[in-house]
Amino acid sequence: MDLIADHISHRFGALDVLDNVSFTVRSGEVVAIVGPSGCGKSTLLSILGGLLQPRAGAAELRGAPPADSLNPLTFVFQDFALLPWCTVEANVEFPLLHTGLAVTDRRALVDDALRRTGLTDFRGTYPKQLSGGMRQRVGIARALAVKPAILLMDEPLSALDSQTRELLMEDFVRLLADGAMGAVYVTHNLEEAIRLADRIVVLSRRPGRVREVVPIAMTRGERGAIDARGKLLALQNELWSLIREEAIDAEREVQHA
Ligand SMILES: Nc1ncnc2c1ncn2[C@@H]1O[C@H](COP(=O)(O)OP(=O)(O)OP(=O)(O)O)[C@@H](O)[C@H]1O
Ligand SMILES: [Mg+2]
Repeated sequence: MDLIADHISHRFGALDVLDNVSFTVRSGEVVAIVGPSGCGKSTLLSILGGLLQPRAGAAELRGAPPADSLNPLTFVFQDFALLPWCTVEANVEFPLLHTGLAVTDRRALVDDALRRTGLTDFRGTYPKQLSGGMRQRVGIARALAVKPAILLMDEPLSALDSQTRELLMEDFVRLLADGAMGAVYVTHNLEEAIRLADRIVVLSRRPGRVREVVPIAMTRGERGAIDARGKLLALQNELWSLIREEAIDAEREVQHA
């Protein structure tokens, strides 16, 4: 199943936010979206996930979703969005409650999601008992429980410290390794984009336009190797040079909103 951004434009009132954005997320592919602050990344993700109707263009799914998928496009939130009064297990089960699945099937999906995120031993704990990284693992497990074809992630690691980010990045690499699930990954962090993405969509400052789509021609496994560091750093510099001037402008912009 492919996800297609087809000439998407959007505005909030008089504010032009996205201008004619097109790209495709092919089945199993990871596409990162980077761009200066306020250029419309989160807006674009909401449109891709069907939460927001664009003024022009469309987000389209092409091809059948995997047969066992309960929700082909599933969000992972920056602030985890967990239910504090529910255990880890109940949080992960929550999106399955109204699917009509039998209890045993629900249990199997929850068990599988907990196992894949290393949370099996934490199923009975409450979010407030967990570190930030473990909370986000619960957010990821909850997304995995509905067997998404594509994860939609908006800065999923930005609330976490750098070591925790590194560990969760390793989790993402592992979870996305078999190509069964794709992802759209919005981030400010170019290093994260380069580590995870098959292609990086670089947006201009607002109104966000596609400046460039940068393919990363290494497998994610290769990128983890020490001798790949030079190449990855060169790519990061190249991306930064695309964004830098506009990031400065976006930073200095006076907000009239
Ligand atoms: N619901 C809304 N109503 C009005 N304006 C909005 C709304 N949502 C976002 N905006 C404005 O639209 C622009 C794009 O916002 P958006 O959150 O998509 O940018 P972003 O690239 O995700 O920013 P950041 O890098 O800070 O996360 C911003 O100027 C923002 O203030
Ligand atoms: Mg945003």
